[in-house]
This record gives sequence, C-alpha cells and structure tokens, in this order.
Amino acid sequence: MTDSEKQCVLVTGGAGYIGSHTVIELIQAGYPVVVLDNLVNSYKGTTQPNPNGVIVSLQRCEEITKTTIPFYEVDLLDKDAVRQVFKKHGDIGFVIHIAGLKAVGESCDLPLLYYNNNLVGTITLLEVMKEFGVYNIVFSSSATVYGDPQYLPIDEKHPVGGCTNPYGKTKYFIEEMIKDLCKSSKQWNAVLLRYFNPIGAHISGLIGEDPQGHPNNLMPYISQVAVGRRPELSVFGSDYDTPDGTGVRDYIHVVDLAQGHVAAIKKFKENCGLKVYNLGTGVGYSVLQMVKAVEKASGNKVAYKICPRRPGDVAISYANPELAERELGWKAQKGLQEMCEDVWRWQSKNPMGFRIAENGSE
Ligand code: NAD
Ligand code: UD1
Repeated sequence: MTDSEKQCVLVTGGAGYIGSHTVIELIQAGYPVVVLDNLVNSYKGTTQPNPNGVIVSLQRCEEITKTTIPFYEVDLLDKDAVRQVFKKHGDIGFVIHIAGLKAVGESCDLPLLYYNNNLVGTITLLEVMKEFGVYNIVFSSSATVYGDPQYLPIDEKHPVGGCTNPYGKTKYFIEEMIKDLCKSSKQWNAVLLRYFNPIGAHISGLIGEDPQGHPNNLMPYISQVAVGRRPELSVFGSDYDTPDGTGVRDYIHVVDLAQGHVAAIKKFKENCGLKVYNLGTGVGYSVLQMVKAVEKASGNKVAYKICPRRPGDVAISYANPELAERELGWKAQKGLQEMCEDVWRWQSKNPMGFRIAENGSE
C-alpha cells in the first residue's frame, strides 16, 4: 500500500446502514477512518453504562474490526463543526459522502427539509473540503436518478433527472453540482456511485439495516414479517408487465456495495476527475421471488396481501454493472440466497434492530 492510499477517509453518515458496512470494509482494507454523523437516523443507546450514550452501530463496527473508530456527532449543516473535524484530522485525504435523508414519502411532505439537509449539507461539506485542500469525494447517489427506465439494463449513459420526488431530485442536483465542480478545476476528483437496491447485512449479524418506525423499503419489511414483528407484507401491485406481475429490482448485498467504495477510493490514485458508476448486480428479482427467498433463508412463512401499485414505482429496474467492473475492478460477488441468509442472521439476532426492547414498543 502506498502512502497516499493510507490517507485517512472521512465517512459522513458512517453510523447508518451503508456507512457502517463501508467503515468496516475500509478498515479491513487498511484505511484509517473518521466518522461524522448527526445521528438523525442512527441509534444512540442510553441503557449502556456510559453517561454519554453509545452509537451502537459503531460500537459493533469496533467489535468486528477490533479498532477504535474516531466519531464526531456533527451536523453537516454546522460548518464550524465540520471544520473542526478536518482541523483535528489533518491527514484526511478522501471523503465518502454517505450522509443524507432518504425517505421518498417524507421528502414529498417535507421537501424543504430534504433540499436543506441534502443539498446545503453537501455544499457545506464541499466548501470545507476546499478550505482544507481535500479534493477527493465519493458520493452516494442512487439509481433513482434514472427515473422510469427507457431501456434495460440501465447503463451510466442512460438519461438522468427523470425522478419525480424531492429525495430523488436531491441526488440528481448533487450529482450536477459535483460535475460542475469537477469542470471548474482539475484539482477535484469525484466518483458518483449510483446504488441499485442495497440489502443484506454483515456476516457477523452484528450490524444491519435498522429503519425507524414503519419500513418503506421491501427487504426490511419482509424480514420484520418473517421475525414476527409485523403481521403481513403489502405487495404493491401484481399487474406489472413482469413474469409474476410484481415489481423487479436489482438487489445488491451491502457488503459488495461497501467494497465498491474501497474500489472507488483507489481510483483517486489516477487523478480520475469525474467518474460515474452503477453499483448493482445486473440481475433483477420480483417482490414474490424475494418473499420466497426470505422464507427459504428463515424457515418462516412470510404472509402477504396484494395491494394497489405504489405511486412513483417503476415496473423493472436493473443495472448494467460492466463499467464498474472494467474501470474499478469491482463486481458484486454475493447472490440472492446469501443476501437473505445474512439479513435473516441480523434480523433474528436483533429483532428490534439496535434498540433494546425494554417495553416492546418502537
Ligand atoms: P441511513 O439513514 O442508514 O444513513 C444515513 C446517515 O446519514 C444516518 O446515520 C444519518 O444520521 C446521517 N445523516 C443524515 N443527515 C445528516 C446530516 N445533515 N449531517 C450528518 N449526518 C447526517 O441510510 P442508508 O440506507 O445507509 O443510505 C446512505 C446513503 O445512501 C444516503 O445518502 C441514501 O440516500 C443513499 N442511498 C441509499 C439507498 C438504500 O436503499 N439504502 C439506495 C440508494 C442511495
Ligand atoms: C425506493 C425509492 C428510491 C430509493 C430506494 C432506496 C420509491 C418509489 N423509490 O426504491 O427512490 O432510492 O428506495 O431508499 O420509493 N414493495 C412492496 N411492498 C413494500 C415495499 C416495497 O411491494 O412494503 C415493492 C416496491 O413496489 C418495489 C420493490 O418492492 O417493486 C422494491 O421497493 P423498495 O425497496 O422501496 O425500493 P425501490 O422502490 O426500488
């Protein structure tokens, strides 16, 4: 490993689902890591014998990696606090910007919250990076920027900007901002990673997806039904033009996704300028195939009922992941059954997620 590769990586949103898995892969690849998160969507345990509380996801990352992970409870909107993190860690060479609000429905009800948090938070981060001479950023984008697919599989040349909800638009606008920044100066290097549908959990079963309240996404919903926390899944639409009529998506194991970030960091060695990659498997599965796969992994029945389509959903979405393989040397390795087994290990060991169920309520 070269010296430049050993520079520290600041992970924003590192206490969350994708962030915590990325932190582990970075540490295991030899990168020193600093985490910044305002904990708006991560859990701080108060029942531990620690007067300041414990960030349970990060505590478990420390257990897995057997390292201490420097953590700052900082909001990206607080510029001075972000500056302090860069000041304290003068060896930050790369930023993986994962922090953001991500609930589609909430973004339709509270668009200004989403534009402020995601856009202004990113602008603040980029300004502070510039102040401290850090010009390498990986950004968590989403396949949502493609909107309703015009062709399949979706490659990076597919038109973007077709998304209709404020959450998706924040991803598109941030991509455009970062593209303009890279055009403005050759100093900047940026890798935009368009995630398809991340699911799964670390093989230890210690960390995984822990949505607060009612899950919006399919996999956490199915696994909460399988573990008995919810009575049944609502299947949104059975009349799509797909083999079984239910929606088809490209589900990718979160550990494969996390390893995609390590590959992206390595790209900065080449002074790569702006790069955009899909992180997906190239294979689509329907909602009912996902139900069956979790039933197989858990040995439990997953009750479901067919409901009307969810507004804004597309019938089919899956990636062409070849560019990432060619240019990053990265390819998803884990198949559907492994994803479901890992989800089940996490869900069955932690039926209430990171929360300690003191009174059975959420
Ligand atoms: P998550 O909510 O688990 O993680 C996001 C983290 O960012 C949380 O810990 C939250 O507390 C933190 N955060 C939010 N706003 C912040 C702010 N202003 N300052 C500091 N920290 C802040 O979500 P996730 O599933 O891990 O998603 C991570 C990123 O990936 C998000 O940007 C999301 O939009 C993007 N993404 C997720 C998916 C998915 O299916 N999970 C798909 C595509 C893209
Ligand atoms: C959704 C968001 C997308 C976001 C992504 C990650 C919408 C329209 N899209 O993607 O912007 O980037 O999450 O946060 O919300 N399903 C059910 N029942 C459920 C939940 C989902 O049948 O309770 C179906 C959906 O109709 C879809 C599939 O499962 O066919 C996957 O849904 P989901 O996990 O929400 O992901 P996306 O819709 O692909």
